[in-house]
Amino acid sequence: MAESMAGMKRTHRCAEVTEQETGSSVTLMGWVQKSRNKGGIIFVDLRDRSGIMQLIFEEDKIGAEGFEKAGRLRSEDVIAVTGTVSRRAGAVNEKLATGTIEVIATYLRILAEAETPPFPVEEDSRTKDELRLKNRFLDLRRPDLQRNLMLRSETAYLTREFFHREGFLEIETPMLGKSTPEGARDYLVPSRIHPGSFYALPQSPQLFKQLLMCSGYDRYIQIARCFRDEDLRADRQPEFTQIDMELSFVDVEDVIDVNERYLKFLFHEALGVEVETPIPRMTWQEAMDRFGSDKPALRVGMELVNVSDVVRNCGFAVFRNALEKEDGSVRGINVKGQGGLGRKKLDKLAEFARGCGAGGLAWIQLPEDGSVKSSFAKFMTEEEMTQLIRAMDGQAGDLLLFAADRNKIVWNVLGALRLQFADELGLLDPREFRFVWITEFPLLEWSDEENRFMAMHHPFTMPMDEDWPKIDSDPGSVRAKAYDIVLNGNEIGGGSVRIHQNDIQEKMFEVLGFTKEKAWEQFSFLLNAFRYGVPPHAGLAYGLDRLVMLMAGADTIRDVIAFPKVKDASDLMTGAPAPVDEKQLEELGIRAGTSEV
Ligand code: AMO
Ligand code: AMP
Repeated sequence: MAESMAGMKRTHRCAEVTEQETGSSVTLMGWVQKSRNKGGIIFVDLRDRSGIMQLIFEEDKIGAEGFEKAGRLRSEDVIAVTGTVSRRAGAVNEKLATGTIEVIATYLRILAEAETPPFPVEEDSRTKDELRLKNRFLDLRRPDLQRNLMLRSETAYLTREFFHREGFLEIETPMLGKSTPEGARDYLVPSRIHPGSFYALPQSPQLFKQLLMCSGYDRYIQIARCFRDEDLRADRQPEFTQIDMELSFVDVEDVIDVNERYLKFLFHEALGVEVETPIPRMTWQEAMDRFGSDKPALRVGMELVNVSDVVRNCGFAVFRNALEKEDGSVRGINVKGQGGLGRKKLDKLAEFARGCGAGGLAWIQLPEDGSVKSSFAKFMTEEEMTQLIRAMDGQAGDLLLFAADRNKIVWNVLGALRLQFADELGLLDPREFRFVWITEFPLLEWSDEENRFMAMHHPFTMPMDEDWPKIDSDPGSVRAKAYDIVLNGNEIGGGSVRIHQNDIQEKMFEVLGFTKEKAWEQFSFLLNAFRYGVPPHAGLAYGLDRLVMLMAGADTIRDVIAFPKVKDASDLMTGAPAPVDEKQLEELGIRAGTSEV
């Protein structure tokens, strides 16, 4: 039977009680983590969002009725307890913040009884994701998730504090907007008043924040929800949150400066971690050449080595053929200490490489006994092998892995292998934070699918002045004033200086395959605004979820989002997305497609 809490007032959260309160009376309210009846004494761990407090029930302190009630307590019951803080009579619990004290209960009320939960509420739960997410309200009671969400709240608060102090204005932009091309797939919302027309949920506030610059707001910040209908991964959700900003009258250096100070402030305040500034910078080209990735994990060695020149005329046709391709190269990584890997494992690696788009994976093993084993030795002279091993700095005990193809594939394969080994060999310490700015991204990226150039960042990104003259002769080589901020191999944010000159913007649309009419049809509001005085401007957006995931040491952004979606973009708890009434559809003037097979 549930009792009321009338007349009782909580004095502390569980873990807010300290040794200083010894001897005084406190009233705590929370959930029963567990209860152990040892005959004349009942131990109860009481939990709230701050942590755990051990409660002691003894008949001579709480009376017969209270003691009987305490005997009935089960996990997840909600109770209110008044009692006296006392030093622990039994063993001190080093794992708890409150491990040296306990509360001797003098009064108990059961505010709500709980049915047996479908899984225990515990840290580092081993319960299957599906069951946990179906009952997310219970899952969210777990101390690790509660810590993550508290850190997220703290991060949002510190972010607002910092940017407010720096003169940024927080301005909201619409959720119901217009679908624009480029970027990911939109989530659409049908209009009842305009049958057949749709709003799009924002993929980011990009165009609106640029308009705010045109309107003179100078420095804008928003913690903004964004929606993208793309395939999900551990670091991607269909709806996510950006810390989105835009600044007027600035260049790359100004954006980097304010953001380095922000990161320093945030990590110091939230984690007590000192971020070294200036944060190192690396051009996109260097990042790809050395790490095979535009979001390099710097904590791991195994840098890529370009051996194209060494193998250009060698006997192995796979290498020679790759070098004949446009943008072809042969590159390798040296995995220290893995020279004795078994054949099965090597085949697995080759399979992994093929999964990344490679034709295969060539390897040389240098076991400790000084011999040389290789998947392609039979095509090479001894001299060619020796040169290749030397170029890779191969020593006894090493495993050398090579990919030969177009750069894009080679980088992809070796970049991924590097991370796989780092993970397997436990080279990644989640408490070490390595930041790096990646700069000078290519402006354009060739799309085989669309058979045209696409904007690598977005169509409003400013090209680098010195490269712009090559926009017709060699568009692929034009670099952009774009930058990403990378933390431990994750892209936590990205941005750019924007085009504010009409002639450059028009040329950009032309290169992207838009006619003038089409560009105006899609972006008339922005292009119009630019006609009436547009300040030079630049900006950046962080993925708040990713940032907090890394700060919290979590494996997926799901662990820092209260109600996340699963891989197929559904919400297991509410059942969204779900069919709707015929009547709702009629009002909207749309008919649901059937999923008959
Ligand atoms: P961008 O598309 O790079 O830039 O997004 C900025 C940051 O948002 C995060 N992010 C995501 N996080 C979780 N789930 C997703 N599906 C997802 N997609 C992106 C990443 C990324 O770095 N308007 C520009 C920013 C600008 O130019 O100012 C933009 O949206 O951490
Ligand atoms: P094969 O002559 O096909 O047996 O190939 C010899 C070795 O080269 C095998 O280990 C293949 O996995 C590897 N290989 C094939 N294609 C590539 C490629 N594009 N890059 C690197 N290695 C490759």
